[in-house]
This record gives sequence, structure tokens and C-alpha cells, in this order.
Amino acid sequence: MDAILLVGGFGTRLMPLTKHRPKPLMPLANIPFTERTIAWLAAAGVDHVILSVHYNTAQFIEHFTRKALGVRISFAPEERPLGTGGAILNCAPHLRSDQCLVVNGDIFTDLQLPALIAAHHRTQALVSIALKTVADPSRFGVIELNADMGICSFTEKPAHEQTLSNEINAGIYLLERRALEHFPPGASSVERDVFPTMLKNDLPLFGFRSRPYWTDLGTPKDYLQAHRDILQRRVAVPMPGTEIMPGIWVGAQTHIAENAILHAPLLLGNRVIVGPGVELGPNLVLGDDVHIGRQARLRDSVLWNRVAVCAESVISESIAGQQAHLDGRIHGGLCADFGILHQFASRRAGMRVPAPHAPVATVSRPAA
Ligand code: GDD
Ligand code: MG
Repeated sequence: MDAILLVGGFGTRLMPLTKHRPKPLMPLANIPFTERTIAWLAAAGVDHVILSVHYNTAQFIEHFTRKALGVRISFAPEERPLGTGGAILNCAPHLRSDQCLVVNGDIFTDLQLPALIAAHHRTQALVSIALKTVADPSRFGVIELNADMGICSFTEKPAHEQTLSNEINAGIYLLERRALEHFPPGASSVERDVFPTMLKNDLPLFGFRSRPYWTDLGTPKDYLQAHRDILQRRVAVPMPGTEIMPGIWVGAQTHIAENAILHAPLLLGNRVIVGPGVELGPNLVLGDDVHIGRQARLRDSVLWNRVAVCAESVISESIAGQQAHLDGRIHGGLCADFGILHQFASRRAGMRVPAPHAPVATVSRPAA
């Protein structure tokens, strides 16, 4: 079966992390997120993935041409963003099967796709949409159903007071290929234009209910929470490295000083160097080749490959891009690839730390 992965968005809410790389290529527990998504699709029988790309197209092509993942990969680039509807239609020339899965590229889930496929056949839907129940539906597409699971309304991002249901579009669809006849040419939004028009025309759109782990990795808060959920095993995904103690995964050639203190859960990549007197975790992920200077303390954070942390630094609830450099007391810091986060004043004087997720003095340098 074919699957379309929508990965063309700008990832604006994750800036500056998405300055040098698209959101779907950000690592999730040390594996590029789209690789995890492709593995999840392949496990459900998908053998051909069409990447619908716009922002940073060259990085996707370079990454997935280099990496063999056991499925065929095609690219459907857009010269200008076509919106989610236009992007799906732009993939049509690549489709080989009569049905196709479509997945928003920032959805991290363990949803059982075979059950969605079975429900689609049972209802003979033109489009089946996976649903998720959430406390605040207003940042999503809100869906109302009839008793037979037929969709009665689809309202994208309604105001709080207009939310008629707590069931939302989980960003995973199963389409009959002939559904594409109802997509307008050019740019369109599947959520604001295509699905509402299909419903007006009484076409059979069905919802699929299940209770998966599900999150949209759209914001730094979501991204950190997804890492906590993986480390605390609320969602089962492959962990790179060896579990040397319960909840502590360590990669190859990683060196941890004898007097370092490790608090589970945490994940360390390959060739990490942890200096003397360092305290790591809980809820910490370090990528490959990360260096932690002596007596630094880090928790509730995600550091990508080749990050350097200066001695005595104190890092919490922060995300640092590849080759970033961290120094000082940093809480809620966000740092682009090659960026520098410094907070000398607070370290020396033990001053107040910034509010969570406020970028702290981010200085970015272009890729070398
Ligand atoms: N190729 C391409 N072109 N991809 C795009 C474009 C485009 O013009 N615009 C957005 N995308 C991709 C993004 O990269 C992302 O993977 C996906 O489409 C959804 O875009 P988001 O910007 O993440 O949308 P959202 O999270 O606000 O809302 C969507 O997802 C929710 C579930 O998380 C909607 O589908 C909602 O209805 C849904 O509830
Ligand atoms: Mg999203």
C-alpha cells in the first residue's frame, strides 16, 4: 500500500530548532522522527512512502536517498506551499494502489493502522479519518459523528466556545484514490476546504475511534513531553543503545566518569563523554558525541548530536540543536543547530531563571 507523508510545513512553532532542519527530521529519542514514522507505516504493510515536501526539500532528498529503510521512497516537491489538500493532490502521479494512507508528518503515535484499514473496508468509506479525544480540541480539527461513525461536521480550529465535540482529527486518513476527484486543483486545505465540501455533498466520510498513544510534535512543550513519554515507556518504540540499568539506555563507546550520578530514565547516544561529578536525569536524552563538562547538572532536556555543555552548567527543560554550546544556568532554553546559549550572570549569582521555553540569548551561526 502507498502512504503520503505531509512533511512540507515550516515548523514555525518550533523555531529556532527548525531553522536549519525541518521538523520531521528532528530526532525523537535519537532517531530522525520521519524514520520512526516510516517504520510504523512499514509494519502495517506500507511498501511505498511519498514524501510531500516543500521546506528544506534538499535535506529530505539527501537524507532518504542515503538511508535505506526497506520501503520505496518517492518525493513530491512543491515550488510553493500547496496547503494540505494541494499537497495530497500533488502526490497523485506517484500513487500505485487504489487506497492510500495520508499522515501529517508531525504525528507521533502507535495507532493500530490495520484496525483503521479494517474499519475502512467495513464502512466502505470514501475517506476514513482517525480520531483522538483531547481535553482542548480548539487547536485541532474538530469532528462530530452520527451513531454509525459517519462524520457530520468537520471544523478546523474552532473558537473555544464553538467546540461541539472533544473528538479531533488525528491527522491520519485512509483515502480511496477516487476521493482525489473531489480535490480542487492548485492550493487548498484538506481540513478547511476539501473535507467540509465533501460533507456538504453527502460523500461517505467515516471516523475511526481507538485509544492510541498520540501527540502532535508541534511545539517545544509537546516535543519534550513526547521524550518523557518514551523514556517512561508510556509508548513502546525502539530505543537505540543498551539498557545498562532499568530505564538507562547507553550507546556504544560512551564514557561516564565513575563519580557521575545517573537518575533514570535517561538515554545517552554513542561516544558521549560525561565528566566527573556530573549529575544526569531524570528525563534526559543526549545525542551522539555530546560532551558534558565536570559537575554539570542536566535534567528534563533533549540535546542533539555533538552538543557541548560547559563545566558546572545547570540545564533543565531545554532543547539544544546539533553542535550547540551551552554554558550556565539554563531553564527552558531553545537553541538552533550551531547555536550558543550562555547564562553567565545567573550561574555566578544564582539569579532568577527565565520562564520555561523562552529562548535565552540564542546566537546562531550558519552551518559550517
Ligand atoms: N507538503 C506540504 N505542503 N505539507 C504541508 C503544508 C503544505 O503546504 N502545510 C502543512 N503541511 C504539513 C505539515 O508539515 C504537517 O506535517 C502537516 O501538514 C499538518 O500541518 P500542521 O501545521 O502541523 O497542522 P496542525 O497541527 O495545526 O493541524 C493539523 O493537524 C492536527 C492534528 O495534529 C490539522 O490536520 C488538524 O485538523 C489536526 O487536528
Ligand atoms: Mg501539527
